[in-house]
Amino acid sequence: MKEKTNGGYLSGKEIRAIARENAKQIKKLEAYKNRRAEEREYLSEMKNPENILEIEDLHTFFYTEQGVVKAVNGVSYDVPKNAVVGIVGESGCGKSVTSMSVMRLIQGPAGQIVDGSIRFKSVDYKRDVKGNPVTDETGEYLTEEKVYDIAKMPIREIHKIRGKQIAMIFQEPMTSLNPVFTIGQQLDEVTLLHQPGATKQSAKEKSEEMLRLVGIIPENVYNAFPHELSGGMRQRVMIAMALAAEPRLIIADEPTTALDVTIQAQILDLLQDIKNKIDGSILLITHDLGVIAEMADYVVVMYAGKVIEKGTVYEIFQEPKHPYTIGLQKSKPTMTLDDSTELYNIPGNVPNPINMPKHCYFKERCAMCTNKCSGDYPGMVQLSPTHFVACHLYEEGNCNG
Ligand SMILES: Nc1ncnc2c1ncn2[C@@H]1O[C@H](COP(=O)(O)OP(=O)(O)OP(=O)(O)O)[C@@H](O)[C@H]1O
Ligand code: SF4
Ligand SMILES: [Mg+2]
Repeated sequence: MKEKTNGGYLSGKEIRAIARENAKQIKKLEAYKNRRAEEREYLSEMKNPENILEIEDLHTFFYTEQGVVKAVNGVSYDVPKNAVVGIVGESGCGKSVTSMSVMRLIQGPAGQIVDGSIRFKSVDYKRDVKGNPVTDETGEYLTEEKVYDIAKMPIREIHKIRGKQIAMIFQEPMTSLNPVFTIGQQLDEVTLLHQPGATKQSAKEKSEEMLRLVGIIPENVYNAFPHELSGGMRQRVMIAMALAAEPRLIIADEPTTALDVTIQAQILDLLQDIKNKIDGSILLITHDLGVIAEMADYVVVMYAGKVIEKGTVYEIFQEPKHPYTIGLQKSKPTMTLDDSTELYNIPGNVPNPINMPKHCYFKERCAMCTNKCSGDYPGMVQLSPTHFVACHLYEEGNCNG
């Protein structure tokens, strides 16, 4: 990104230079995304077999007219099997872009995964060379385990995992449901698409079972259209749809933000319930620290496109180390605050995502910063087998380290 000279505005020459560079990068990345590749090119191995998802050094950028927005700039975190991982951080810090990268739903050509790995442990039906599922002598469908690097998958192969093995629950269910089909039709479609040997009748039975699982009486809803349902009901239907494919990972991005408080509590109870029933993991993105404290086993704190701290829910809530995480905890309302106590507010703003500094991105807002903080961006320091923080205060040789 070129220096802005014209009183903070870009000159015509600078705009043309950015456009040329963007076009070059996009062409290369689009060709990679749309290539045909043998499966072995995007098969990988998990670093830890106990994980279902390992995101490593992920970079997802947006090539805009103003320059490159490094929305996700070297993010690494893991999702262990049967765990809930909560992602928190200020608006615009890259939580959704990271999860959309996992689903390969980043809107091209401007948005692109530029670098890094997204390893996912897939268990799917074993297929013959023609792509038909294979059965054993008793007629049971055989399954096989593979690790895919989703970041390297050609986009045409993404159907192997999207929707089936990784399902997503969005903030606004109305935009994810098709208004012209009934709930039953949309739910049946999931089973018919993903379950080999499924018939119309077996798909309907599965849909009804899923509706019951999310607390809906199927007779009232199966033949209804999305607009006939309340927001809370639609979100339940979305969860039922996500579950119908029997995914191994559910990504819930602000699943309750659009709902009123009582319905929020019901949906969260439902997710908690489902967590215990399914043999899978949940990646939960929310602004609400209370929700994270209640539901998550592990927490990842993001700031300006990077992970700044991660650990178990106990480590992040009881022993937060990064000055930003400490500030987040202080800015959380509690029942013990009396009316005269003002909520703590972290001063300042996130730096411009196009012109990120070389030093720690939190420096301008940090009350604990030292001389070292004007140097390079801090590396990840390991504090326990599960607790990591990116802050100079905890590096070896510092009293807090
Ligand atoms: N299509 C786009 N074009 C340009 N920049 C984008 C685009 N989509 C997202 N961004 C930028 O990427 C950054 C991360 O956005 P993201 O949606 O991941 O934030 P978030 O952490 O999910 O925030 P919120 O809590 O508000 O949902 C932001 O700076 C945003 O402006
Ligand atoms: S590295 Fe320095 S500026 Fe950044 S959070 Fe730590 S103490 Fe604050
Ligand atoms: Mg978001």
